Amino acid sequence: MVGLLLPLVLALLLGLALAFVLLHFLFVKQEPTKLPHGSMGWPLCGETLGFLKPHKSNSMGSFLQDHCSRHGKIFKSHLFGSPTIVSCDHEFNMFILQNEEKLFQCSYPKPIHGILGRLCLLVVVGDIHKRLRSFALNLISTCKSKPEFLHDIDKLAISIVESWKERKEVVFCEEAKKFTFNLIVKQILSLEPEEPLTSKILADFLTFMKGLVSLPLYIPGTPYAKAVKARARISSTVGEIIKDRRKGDVGIAKGDFLDVLLSNTSLSDEGKVSIVLDLLLGGYETTSILMATAVYFLGHSPHALEKLKANSLSLSLRRTPSHKENEGGRRTLELGRLQANAVHSQCNKAVTVINEALRCGNVVKFVHRKALKDVNFKGYLIPSGWKVLPVFTASHLDPSLHENASEFNPWRWAGQTTSKDVSPFGGGVRLCPGAELAKVETAFFLHYLVLNYRWKTKGEDCPLAHPYVEFERGLPLEIEPLETSLGRKS
Ligand code: HEM
Repeated sequence: MVGLLLPLVLALLLGLALAFVLLHFLFVKQEPTKLPHGSMGWPLCGETLGFLKPHKSNSMGSFLQDHCSRHGKIFKSHLFGSPTIVSCDHEFNMFILQNEEKLFQCSYPKPIHGILGRLCLLVVVGDIHKRLRSFALNLISTCKSKPEFLHDIDKLAISIVESWKERKEVVFCEEAKKFTFNLIVKQILSLEPEEPLTSKILADFLTFMKGLVSLPLYIPGTPYAKAVKARARISSTVGEIIKDRRKGDVGIAKGDFLDVLLSNTSLSDEGKVSIVLDLLLGGYETTSILMATAVYFLGHSPHALEKLKANSLSLSLRRTPSHKENEGGRRTLELGRLQANAVHSQCNKAVTVINEALRCGNVVKFVHRKALKDVNFKGYLIPSGWKVLPVFTASHLDPSLHENASEFNPWRWAGQTTSKDVSPFGGGVRLCPGAELAKVETAFFLHYLVLNYRWKTKGEDCPLAHPYVEFERGLPLEIEPLETSLGRKS
């Protein structure tokens, strides 16, 4: 009898153990199923390579398209060496940005910190970020309010467009970079394009930018190692300029960003140099890419180009008596009018074109954040410590937010200068402080471009998201001066 019972009892115990394991798996291990769906990819590299695969910047790319259709707009993955929640949901993106320092925090990959420096605005968090950011905002708004500021933008835009007079072709990205770099070094450090220091900073800056998007290997000779060194050289060049300014022997009080910065005694020299680098870094590449995407999309949208041109013509013709011809006979645009229109007026065509270029061109595809605590959003668990990537491209191209989302259509912006359905400049306490500056620079340049030239892209060269946006061939344009151009001597 006992002999018969023993196997039965053993079978029962085994059954119970199995049931326990099953129940434990179903209920206790239920928690991870609250995580958004997704896959963690390969060990170590996860799905990073797929996520970074280049695609047209006015498209989501196959990785996001595929993941969103399989897992939904919020999904889990393993990117940049960490478990990650990717958000292609505009509402969640805004929630993340608005809850900076409360539920989420800026968190760029560690190797980038090595290049950007420990006091870079994209690296610092908490009170240090608040303090440094307020300096940057103050600098930008003080300089923006000066009349010379718009005058410099105007002058440089004219000189670049003017330098194309005898040319049939230009590589637009090179010209745009020349424009934005020369402007930002002029505004920050009062350096002119032809000064040797400008070329020195530019050479170091190009090395710096290459390293920023390279494999982070600190081995002598790699782009990463070269970038770290280039950053150190730019810092020491800026440090020397600061020393000279203090000595007062190289022109005191130039009224530029640096003067405003130097008048502040509560910030260390390291902090001052870091802010200068932040503004150089932020103001150079992004703005030139915005200009290039606007030119690219306008080139494919003759109707939008005609409207922009008509608008520029009417601005130029409505001149006030105080409006002067400059030395070259070129009519300088009435600055007050363009500023008022480009920045404040709701119906200025340049702003609608620029906003649409930002939506379609997606200069910044996504930003890096991490969750500071467990967060619940729309029934999803975002675990504390996980990386969180709000993808702006996805919401910019979301058909539920934008009708015919893949179409470049500046008229969708008629009557509005901003929209809560796009976030090209981020948001919350880290909203880009240079947003208006970038728009004004682009508006001025487009103004002179459309008034003076007809152009077409030499072969197709669309903006590609690497994820930083790049034109493979630099956007070569065939240009032809317009007979009726307002720039010619009348
Ligand atoms: C088309 C042009 C531009 C685009 C699309 C752009 C985009 C952005 C975005 C998305 C961020 C937020 C990053 C984050 O939240 O992690 C940002 C931050 C920043 N941008 Fe821009 N930007 C542009 C032009 C500029 C210009 C012209 C400047 C300066 C002159 C600038 C300076 C900065 C700085 C200093 C930050 C850091 C802000 C902070 O962390 O508090 N940007 N930008």
